[in-house]
Amino acid sequence: MRIDILTLFPSSVHTVLHESILGRAAAKGLIEINCVQIRDYTENRQCQVDDYPYGGGWGCVMMAQPLKKCLDAVMKSAGERKSRVIYLSPQGQPFTQETAKRLQREYDHLVLVCGHYEGVDERFVEACVDEEISLGDFVLTGGEIAAMAVSDAVCRLVPGVLSDEACYTDESHWDGLLEYPQYTRPEVWEGRHVPEVLLNGDHAKITHWRRKQQILRTRDKRPDLYQKADFSLKEDRMILQEIERDALRFPLTEALSCRTARVEDLPVILQIVSDARRILAQRRIDQWQGDYPTEKDFSADIDRGECYLIFHGEEAAGVFTLSGSHQAEYDALTDGKWACETGHYCVLHRAALLAKYRGSGISRFLLKQVEEIACSGGFDSVRTDTHRKNKGMRSLLLNEGFAFRGNVLVSTEPGHDPHRQAFEKIL
Ligand SMILES: C[S@@+](CC[C@H](N)C(=O)[O-])C[C@H]1O[C@@H](n2cnc3c(N)ncnc32)[C@H](O)[C@@H]1O
Repeated sequence: MRIDILTLFPSSVHTVLHESILGRAAAKGLIEINCVQIRDYTENRQCQVDDYPYGGGWGCVMMAQPLKKCLDAVMKSAGERKSRVIYLSPQGQPFTQETAKRLQREYDHLVLVCGHYEGVDERFVEACVDEEISLGDFVLTGGEIAAMAVSDAVCRLVPGVLSDEACYTDESHWDGLLEYPQYTRPEVWEGRHVPEVLLNGDHAKITHWRRKQQILRTRDKRPDLYQKADFSLKEDRMILQEIERDALRFPLTEALSCRTARVEDLPVILQIVSDARRILAQRRIDQWQGDYPTEKDFSADIDRGECYLIFHGEEAAGVFTLSGSHQAEYDALTDGKWACETGHYCVLHRAALLAKYRGSGISRFLLKQVEEIACSGGFDSVRTDTHRKNKGMRSLLLNEGFAFRGNVLVSTEPGHDPHRQAFEKIL
Protein backbone atom coordinates (compact mmCIF):
# COMPACT_ATOMS: atom_id res chain seq x y z
CA MET A 1 0.00 0.00 0.00
CA ARG A 2 1.34 3.42 -0.93
CA ILE A 3 -0.11 6.56 0.60
CA ASP A 4 0.73 10.09 -0.58
CA ILE A 5 -0.33 12.82 1.82
CA LEU A 6 -0.58 16.28 0.25
CA THR A 7 -0.04 18.74 3.07
CA LEU A 8 1.46 22.07 4.13
CA PHE A 9 3.12 20.30 7.13
CA PRO A 10 4.88 17.23 5.71
CA SER A 11 7.57 16.83 8.38
CA SER A 12 5.11 16.69 11.31
CA VAL A 13 2.94 14.13 9.53
CA HIS A 14 5.98 12.08 8.45
CA THR A 15 7.27 11.87 12.02
CA VAL A 16 3.99 10.59 13.44
CA LEU A 17 3.46 8.02 10.69
CA HIS A 18 6.99 6.62 10.87
CA GLU A 19 7.02 5.74 14.58
CA SER A 20 6.55 2.27 16.05
CA ILE A 21 4.51 -0.33 14.09
CA LEU A 22 4.03 1.77 10.94
CA GLY A 23 7.68 2.86 10.96
CA ARG A 24 8.80 -0.79 11.10
CA ALA A 25 6.31 -1.75 8.36
CA ALA A 26 7.67 1.06 6.15
CA ALA A 27 11.25 -0.07 6.83
CA LYS A 28 10.27 -3.61 5.72
CA GLY A 29 8.70 -2.22 2.54
CA LEU A 30 5.18 -3.39 3.42
CA ILE A 31 3.83 0.16 3.20
CA GLU A 32 5.09 3.43 1.78
CA ILE A 33 3.90 6.76 3.14
CA ASN A 34 5.07 9.94 1.42
CA CYS A 35 4.29 13.36 2.82
CA VAL A 36 4.37 15.85 -0.02
CA GLN A 37 4.69 19.63 0.42
CA ILE A 38 1.92 21.34 -1.60
CA ARG A 39 3.83 24.63 -1.46
CA ASP A 40 6.58 23.13 -3.67
CA TYR A 41 4.09 23.14 -6.56
CA THR A 42 3.07 26.79 -6.56
CA GLU A 43 3.66 28.87 -9.70
CA ASN A 44 4.00 32.27 -8.02
CA ARG A 45 7.15 33.85 -6.66
CA GLN A 46 5.86 34.06 -3.08
CA CYS A 47 5.02 30.35 -3.05
CA GLN A 48 1.53 31.38 -2.04
CA VAL A 49 -0.93 28.48 -1.60
CA ASP A 50 -4.08 30.36 -0.51
CA ASP A 51 -6.04 33.51 -1.30
CA TYR A 52 -9.10 35.47 -0.18
CA PRO A 53 -12.51 33.92 -0.86
CA TYR A 54 -14.61 35.32 -3.68
CA GLY A 55 -17.73 36.93 -2.23
CA GLY A 56 -15.90 37.95 0.94
CA GLY A 57 -15.87 36.34 4.36
CA TRP A 58 -13.32 35.19 6.88
CA GLY A 59 -10.00 33.50 6.22
CA CYS A 60 -8.35 32.18 3.07
CA VAL A 61 -9.02 29.35 0.68
CA MET A 62 -6.35 27.02 -0.72
CA MET A 63 -5.87 27.56 -4.43
CA ALA A 64 -6.62 24.78 -6.92
CA GLN A 65 -3.43 25.19 -9.01
CA PRO A 66 -0.74 24.05 -6.49
CA LEU A 67 -3.00 21.23 -5.35
CA LYS A 68 -3.57 20.00 -8.91
CA LYS A 69 0.10 20.24 -9.85
CA CYS A 70 1.10 18.38 -6.68
CA LEU A 71 -1.52 15.71 -7.36
CA ASP A 72 -0.35 15.29 -10.97
CA ALA A 73 3.21 14.74 -9.75
CA VAL A 74 2.29 12.00 -7.27
CA MET A 75 -0.06 10.31 -9.76
CA LYS A 76 2.69 10.23 -12.35
CA SER A 77 5.15 8.66 -9.92
CA ALA A 78 2.55 6.12 -8.77
CA GLY A 79 2.35 4.65 -12.28
CA GLU A 80 -0.23 1.92 -12.88
CA ARG A 81 -1.39 1.55 -9.29
CA LYS A 82 -5.07 1.43 -8.43
CA SER A 83 -5.42 4.91 -6.92
CA ARG A 84 -8.06 6.77 -4.96
CA VAL A 85 -7.93 10.54 -4.35
CA ILE A 86 -9.49 11.46 -1.02
CA TYR A 87 -10.10 14.94 0.36
CA LEU A 88 -10.24 15.03 4.16
CA SER A 89 -13.19 17.25 4.92
CA PRO A 90 -15.78 17.81 7.67
CA GLN A 91 -18.33 17.52 4.86
CA GLY A 92 -17.27 13.97 3.90
CA GLN A 93 -18.71 10.62 4.90
CA PRO A 94 -17.72 9.74 8.46
CA PHE A 95 -14.67 7.46 8.56
CA THR A 96 -15.33 3.95 9.94
CA GLN A 97 -13.58 0.60 10.15
CA GLU A 98 -15.63 -0.44 7.13
CA THR A 99 -14.14 2.48 5.16
CA ALA A 100 -10.65 1.43 6.22
CA LYS A 101 -11.33 -2.18 5.15
CA ARG A 102 -12.69 -1.03 1.78
CA LEU A 103 -9.76 1.27 1.05
CA GLN A 104 -7.23 -1.43 1.96
CA ARG A 105 -9.08 -4.08 -0.06
CA GLU A 106 -9.82 -2.10 -3.21
CA TYR A 107 -6.80 0.19 -3.72
CA ASP A 108 -3.03 0.04 -3.51
CA HIS A 109 -2.51 3.78 -3.69
CA LEU A 110 -4.30 6.46 -1.69
CA VAL A 111 -3.79 10.19 -2.14
CA LEU A 112 -4.93 12.08 0.95
CA VAL A 113 -5.44 15.79 0.40
CA CYS A 114 -5.24 17.95 3.54
CA GLY A 115 -7.02 21.28 3.43
CA HIS A 116 -6.20 24.17 5.74
CA TYR A 117 -7.59 27.66 6.50
CA GLU A 118 -11.18 27.79 5.18
CA GLY A 119 -10.70 24.72 3.01
CA VAL A 120 -9.87 24.29 -0.69
CA ASP A 121 -11.21 25.80 -3.92
CA GLU A 122 -14.34 23.80 -4.74
CA ARG A 123 -13.29 23.39 -8.38
CA PHE A 124 -10.32 21.24 -7.30
CA VAL A 125 -12.70 18.98 -5.33
CA GLU A 126 -15.06 18.70 -8.33
CA ALA A 127 -12.31 18.00 -10.84
CA CYS A 128 -9.89 15.77 -8.96
CA VAL A 129 -11.38 14.18 -5.83
CA ASP A 130 -12.92 10.68 -5.83
CA GLU A 131 -14.37 10.85 -2.33
CA GLU A 132 -14.47 13.04 0.76
CA ILE A 133 -13.88 11.54 4.19
CA SER A 134 -14.60 13.18 7.53
CA LEU A 135 -13.07 12.21 10.84
CA GLY A 136 -16.32 13.12 12.56
CA ASP A 137 -18.85 15.87 12.96
CA PHE A 138 -16.45 18.53 14.21
CA VAL A 139 -14.07 20.94 12.53
CA LEU A 140 -10.27 20.69 12.66
CA THR A 141 -7.87 23.44 11.61
CA GLY A 142 -6.40 21.18 8.94
CA GLY A 143 -6.79 17.76 7.32
CA GLU A 144 -3.50 16.38 8.70
CA ILE A 145 -4.90 14.70 11.83
CA ALA A 146 -7.63 13.11 9.72
CA ALA A 147 -5.09 11.96 7.10
CA MET A 148 -2.94 10.40 9.81
CA ALA A 149 -5.95 8.60 11.27
CA VAL A 150 -6.97 7.22 7.86
CA SER A 151 -3.38 6.18 7.03
CA ASP A 152 -2.92 4.42 10.35
CA ALA A 153 -6.26 2.58 10.22
CA VAL A 154 -5.69 1.44 6.62
CA CYS A 155 -2.01 0.49 6.96
CA ARG A 156 -2.52 -1.74 9.99
CA LEU A 157 -4.83 -3.88 7.82
CA VAL A 158 -2.07 -4.49 5.26
CA PRO A 159 -0.93 -8.13 5.61
CA GLY A 160 2.27 -8.39 7.64
CA VAL A 161 2.01 -4.98 9.31
CA LEU A 162 0.56 -6.54 12.47
CA SER A 163 1.96 -9.88 13.64
CA ASP A 164 -1.33 -11.75 13.11
CA GLU A 165 -4.65 -11.16 11.40
CA ALA A 166 -6.36 -11.74 14.76
CA CYS A 167 -4.70 -8.52 15.98
CA TYR A 168 -7.30 -6.56 14.04
CA THR A 169 -10.14 -9.07 13.46
CA ASP A 170 -10.59 -9.45 17.24
CA GLU A 171 -10.81 -5.72 17.80
CA SER A 172 -13.62 -3.22 18.17
CA HIS A 173 -15.64 -2.49 15.03
CA TRP A 174 -14.32 -5.41 12.98
CA ASP A 175 -17.64 -7.23 13.00
CA GLY A 176 -19.78 -4.33 14.22
CA LEU A 177 -19.15 -4.96 17.94
CA LEU A 178 -16.78 -3.42 20.49
CA GLU A 179 -13.92 -5.47 21.86
CA TYR A 180 -14.10 -7.39 25.16
CA PRO A 181 -12.22 -5.95 28.19
CA GLN A 182 -8.50 -6.66 28.34
CA TYR A 183 -6.30 -7.24 31.40
CA THR A 184 -2.58 -7.73 32.02
CA ARG A 185 -0.37 -8.36 35.04
CA PRO A 186 -0.66 -8.14 38.00
CA GLU A 187 -3.63 -10.41 38.76
CA VAL A 188 -4.81 -8.06 41.52
CA TRP A 189 -4.35 -4.29 41.17
CA GLU A 190 -5.51 -1.94 43.92
CA GLY A 191 -7.94 -4.61 45.13
CA ARG A 192 -9.39 -5.22 41.66
CA HIS A 193 -9.17 -8.77 40.37
CA VAL A 194 -8.77 -10.05 36.83
CA PRO A 195 -11.95 -12.08 35.99
CA GLU A 196 -11.35 -15.67 37.10
CA VAL A 197 -12.36 -17.17 33.75
CA LEU A 198 -9.27 -15.62 32.14
CA LEU A 199 -6.95 -17.38 34.57
CA ASN A 200 -8.06 -21.00 34.21
CA GLY A 201 -6.67 -21.72 30.72
CA ASP A 202 -10.00 -23.11 29.45
CA HIS A 203 -10.01 -21.61 25.96
CA ALA A 204 -13.59 -22.53 25.09
CA LYS A 205 -14.83 -20.75 28.23
CA ILE A 206 -12.60 -17.74 27.56
CA THR A 207 -13.90 -17.43 23.98
CA HIS A 208 -17.49 -17.64 25.21
CA TRP A 209 -16.89 -15.06 27.97
CA ARG A 210 -15.19 -12.66 25.58
CA ARG A 211 -17.96 -12.85 23.00
CA LYS A 212 -20.57 -12.26 25.71
CA GLN A 213 -18.60 -9.24 26.94
CA GLN A 214 -18.42 -7.87 23.38
CA ILE A 215 -22.19 -8.11 23.06
CA LEU A 216 -22.84 -6.61 26.52
CA ARG A 217 -20.34 -3.77 26.03
CA THR A 218 -21.74 -2.84 22.65
CA ARG A 219 -25.28 -2.92 24.05
CA ASP A 220 -24.30 -0.69 26.98
CA LYS A 221 -21.76 1.66 25.39
CA ARG A 222 -22.96 1.91 21.79
CA PRO A 223 -26.65 1.04 21.49
CA ASP A 224 -26.56 2.45 17.92
CA LEU A 225 -24.07 -0.26 16.88
CA TYR A 226 -25.92 -2.93 18.87
CA GLN A 227 -29.13 -2.20 16.94
CA LYS A 228 -27.33 -2.84 13.64
CA ALA A 229 -25.21 -5.82 14.73
CA ASP A 230 -25.64 -9.21 13.10
CA PHE A 231 -26.42 -11.91 15.68
CA SER A 232 -27.36 -14.64 13.22
CA LEU A 233 -24.62 -17.04 14.36
CA LYS A 234 -25.98 -19.84 16.55
CA GLU A 235 -23.40 -19.08 19.24
CA ASP A 236 -24.45 -15.42 19.38
CA ARG A 237 -28.13 -16.33 19.60
CA MET A 238 -27.35 -18.61 22.54
CA ILE A 239 -25.41 -15.83 24.26
CA LEU A 240 -28.35 -13.44 23.77
CA GLN A 241 -30.64 -15.98 25.45
CA GLU A 242 -28.11 -16.32 28.27
CA ILE A 243 -28.10 -12.52 28.69
CA GLU A 244 -31.90 -12.52 28.87
CA ARG A 245 -31.79 -15.23 31.53
CA ASP A 246 -29.14 -13.27 33.46
CA ALA A 247 -31.45 -10.25 33.51
CA LEU A 248 -34.14 -12.30 35.25
CA ARG A 249 -31.77 -13.46 37.94
CA PHE A 250 -32.42 -12.65 41.55
CA PRO A 251 -29.75 -10.11 42.53
CA LEU A 252 -27.39 -11.36 45.24
CA THR A 253 -27.05 -8.34 47.47
CA GLU A 254 -26.17 -10.11 50.73
CA ALA A 255 -23.26 -12.29 51.77
CA LEU A 256 -23.52 -16.02 51.05
CA SER A 257 -22.74 -18.52 53.80
CA CYS A 258 -23.08 -22.20 54.59
CA ARG A 259 -23.60 -24.13 57.83
CA THR A 260 -24.72 -27.59 58.94
CA ALA A 261 -28.48 -27.83 59.24
CA ARG A 262 -30.28 -28.26 62.57
CA VAL A 263 -33.56 -29.99 63.44
CA GLU A 264 -35.32 -26.63 63.70
CA ASP A 265 -34.36 -25.96 60.05
CA LEU A 266 -36.59 -28.82 58.83
CA PRO A 267 -39.60 -26.58 57.90
CA VAL A 268 -37.46 -24.29 55.76
CA ILE A 269 -35.68 -27.30 54.18
CA LEU A 270 -39.06 -28.78 53.20
CA GLN A 271 -40.09 -25.41 51.80
CA ILE A 272 -36.97 -25.34 49.59
CA VAL A 273 -37.62 -28.91 48.44
CA SER A 274 -41.25 -28.15 47.59
CA ASP A 275 -40.12 -25.14 45.51
CA ALA A 276 -37.59 -27.30 43.66
CA ARG A 277 -40.22 -30.03 43.11
CA ARG A 278 -42.56 -27.46 41.53
CA ILE A 279 -39.87 -26.26 39.14
CA LEU A 280 -38.98 -29.83 38.12
CA ALA A 281 -42.67 -30.49 37.39
CA GLN A 282 -42.89 -27.31 35.29
CA ARG A 283 -39.91 -28.50 33.29
CA ARG A 284 -41.52 -31.96 32.90
CA ILE A 285 -38.69 -33.70 34.71
CA ASP A 286 -39.89 -36.82 36.48
CA GLN A 287 -37.66 -36.35 39.51
CA TRP A 288 -38.87 -35.68 43.08
CA GLN A 289 -42.44 -35.97 41.81
CA GLY A 290 -43.42 -38.50 44.49
CA ASP A 291 -42.68 -38.27 48.23
CA TYR A 292 -38.92 -38.36 47.96
CA PRO A 293 -37.01 -36.67 49.56
CA THR A 294 -38.96 -36.87 52.80
CA GLU A 295 -38.66 -35.11 56.14
CA LYS A 296 -37.31 -38.42 57.44
CA ASP A 297 -34.49 -38.40 54.88
CA PHE A 298 -33.42 -34.89 55.96
CA SER A 299 -33.84 -35.71 59.66
CA ALA A 300 -31.47 -38.64 59.25
CA ASP A 301 -29.02 -36.42 57.30
CA ILE A 302 -29.15 -33.82 60.09
CA ASP A 303 -28.54 -36.49 62.76
CA ARG A 304 -25.44 -37.63 60.88
CA GLY A 305 -24.25 -34.00 60.50
CA GLU A 306 -24.38 -34.41 56.69
CA CYS A 307 -27.09 -31.86 55.80
CA TYR A 308 -26.08 -28.26 54.99
CA LEU A 309 -27.95 -25.02 54.39
CA ILE A 310 -26.86 -22.17 52.14
CA PHE A 311 -27.83 -18.66 53.27
CA HIS A 312 -28.22 -15.45 51.32
CA GLY A 313 -27.89 -12.99 54.19
CA GLU A 314 -30.38 -14.31 56.75
CA GLU A 315 -32.49 -16.27 54.28
CA ALA A 316 -32.03 -20.02 53.81
CA ALA A 317 -31.72 -20.27 50.04
CA GLY A 318 -30.54 -23.82 49.43
CA VAL A 319 -29.93 -27.21 50.95
CA PHE A 320 -27.76 -30.23 50.24
CA THR A 321 -26.55 -33.41 51.80
CA LEU A 322 -22.97 -34.59 51.53
CA SER A 323 -22.70 -38.17 52.63
CA GLY A 324 -19.67 -40.31 53.25
CA SER A 325 -21.76 -43.52 53.23
CA HIS A 326 -21.32 -46.11 50.52
CA GLN A 327 -23.90 -45.70 47.74
CA ALA A 328 -24.64 -49.23 46.50
CA GLU A 329 -26.38 -48.08 43.30
CA TYR A 330 -23.23 -46.29 42.20
CA ASP A 331 -21.38 -49.64 42.10
CA ALA A 332 -23.11 -50.44 38.82
CA LEU A 333 -22.84 -47.67 36.23
CA THR A 334 -24.66 -49.14 33.23
CA ASP A 335 -22.22 -47.86 30.63
CA GLY A 336 -19.22 -46.18 32.12
CA LYS A 337 -16.85 -46.19 34.99
CA TRP A 338 -15.73 -43.96 37.83
CA ALA A 339 -12.26 -42.50 37.44
CA CYS A 340 -11.64 -42.73 41.18
CA GLU A 341 -12.75 -46.41 41.53
CA THR A 342 -10.97 -47.33 44.72
CA GLY A 343 -10.84 -43.85 46.25
CA HIS A 344 -12.53 -42.57 49.31
CA TYR A 345 -15.52 -40.71 47.87
CA CYS A 346 -18.50 -38.77 49.19
CA VAL A 347 -21.88 -38.34 47.52
CA LEU A 348 -23.83 -35.14 46.94
CA HIS A 349 -27.56 -35.82 47.47
CA ARG A 350 -30.74 -33.83 47.73
CA ALA A 351 -29.39 -30.49 46.52
CA ALA A 352 -32.10 -27.86 46.03
CA LEU A 353 -32.54 -24.10 45.87
CA LEU A 354 -35.48 -21.81 46.49
CA ALA A 355 -36.98 -21.19 43.04
CA LYS A 356 -36.30 -17.45 43.10
CA TYR A 357 -32.55 -18.10 43.35
CA ARG A 358 -32.40 -20.19 40.17
CA GLY A 359 -29.66 -18.82 37.92
CA SER A 360 -28.52 -16.35 40.59
CA GLY A 361 -25.10 -17.95 40.95
CA ILE A 362 -25.92 -19.55 44.34
CA SER A 363 -25.73 -23.03 42.81
CA ARG A 364 -22.07 -22.40 41.96
CA PHE A 365 -21.49 -21.29 45.54
CA LEU A 366 -23.22 -24.48 46.72
CA LEU A 367 -20.89 -26.66 44.64
CA LYS A 368 -17.86 -24.74 45.94
CA GLN A 369 -19.03 -25.52 49.51
CA VAL A 370 -19.43 -29.18 48.57
CA GLU A 371 -15.86 -29.23 47.32
CA GLU A 372 -14.49 -27.49 50.41
CA ILE A 373 -16.33 -29.75 52.84
CA ALA A 374 -15.27 -32.86 50.89
CA CYS A 375 -11.65 -31.70 50.83
CA SER A 376 -11.58 -30.94 54.52
CA GLY A 377 -13.17 -34.37 55.18
CA GLY A 378 -10.23 -36.01 53.38
CA PHE A 379 -12.29 -37.38 50.48
CA ASP A 380 -10.63 -38.06 47.11
CA SER A 381 -13.68 -37.34 44.97
CA VAL A 382 -17.32 -36.26 44.98
CA ARG A 383 -19.97 -38.29 43.14
CA THR A 384 -23.48 -37.26 42.31
CA ASP A 385 -26.26 -37.97 39.85
CA THR A 386 -29.04 -36.07 38.19
CA HIS A 387 -32.12 -36.94 36.18
CA ARG A 388 -31.33 -37.62 32.53
CA LYS A 389 -33.62 -34.72 31.50
CA ASN A 390 -32.21 -32.23 34.01
CA LYS A 391 -30.10 -30.26 31.52
CA GLY A 392 -29.67 -27.30 33.90
CA MET A 393 -28.05 -29.44 36.60
CA ARG A 394 -26.01 -31.28 34.00
CA SER A 395 -24.47 -28.10 32.58
CA LEU A 396 -23.90 -26.67 36.06
CA LEU A 397 -21.97 -29.80 37.07
CA LEU A 398 -19.93 -29.80 33.87
CA ASN A 399 -19.20 -26.09 34.21
CA GLU A 400 -18.01 -26.59 37.77
CA GLY A 401 -15.51 -29.28 36.86
CA PHE A 402 -17.55 -32.48 37.29
CA ALA A 403 -17.16 -35.11 34.57
CA PHE A 404 -19.93 -37.32 33.19
CA ARG A 405 -19.08 -40.93 34.01
CA GLY A 406 -22.08 -42.93 32.71
CA ASN A 407 -25.67 -43.80 33.51
CA VAL A 408 -27.12 -45.31 36.64
CA LEU A 409 -30.52 -46.51 37.83
CA VAL A 410 -31.72 -45.25 41.19
CA SER A 411 -34.54 -46.76 43.19
CA THR A 412 -35.32 -43.93 45.64
CA GLU A 413 -38.50 -42.96 43.75
CA PRO A 414 -40.54 -46.10 43.01
CA GLY A 415 -42.93 -45.67 40.09
CA HIS A 416 -40.91 -42.80 38.56
CA ASP A 417 -38.24 -42.67 35.89
CA PRO A 418 -35.11 -44.21 37.53
CA HIS A 419 -32.60 -43.12 34.87
CA ARG A 420 -29.92 -40.83 36.17
CA GLN A 421 -26.64 -39.53 34.80
CA ALA A 422 -23.65 -39.97 37.08
CA PHE A 423 -20.96 -37.29 37.58
CA GLU A 424 -17.69 -37.22 39.46
CA LYS A 425 -15.27 -34.53 40.51
CA ILE A 426 -11.77 -35.58 41.51
CA LEU A 427 -10.48 -33.40 44.31
C1 LIG B 1 -11.19 24.74 9.18
S1 LIG B 1 -11.39 23.42 8.09
C2 LIG B 1 -12.44 24.04 6.88
C3 LIG B 1 -13.86 23.81 7.18
C4 LIG B 1 -14.78 24.30 6.10
N1 LIG B 1 -14.73 25.72 5.99
C5 LIG B 1 -16.21 23.87 6.40
O1 LIG B 1 -16.86 24.58 7.18
O2 LIG B 1 -16.65 22.82 5.91
C6 LIG B 1 -9.84 23.27 7.30
C7 LIG B 1 -9.51 21.88 6.81
O3 LIG B 1 -9.44 20.99 7.86
C8 LIG B 1 -9.79 19.71 7.41
N2 LIG B 1 -10.85 19.23 8.32
C9 LIG B 1 -11.53 19.95 9.21
N3 LIG B 1 -12.40 19.21 9.87
C10 LIG B 1 -12.29 17.96 9.41
C11 LIG B 1 -12.94 16.75 9.67
N4 LIG B 1 -13.91 16.65 10.59
N5 LIG B 1 -12.56 15.65 9.00
C12 LIG B 1 -11.59 15.72 8.06
N6 LIG B 1 -10.96 16.84 7.75
C13 LIG B 1 -11.29 17.96 8.40
C14 LIG B 1 -10.23 19.84 5.99
O4 LIG B 1 -9.20 19.37 5.16
C15 LIG B 1 -10.47 21.30 5.83
O5 LIG B 1 -10.21 21.73 4.53
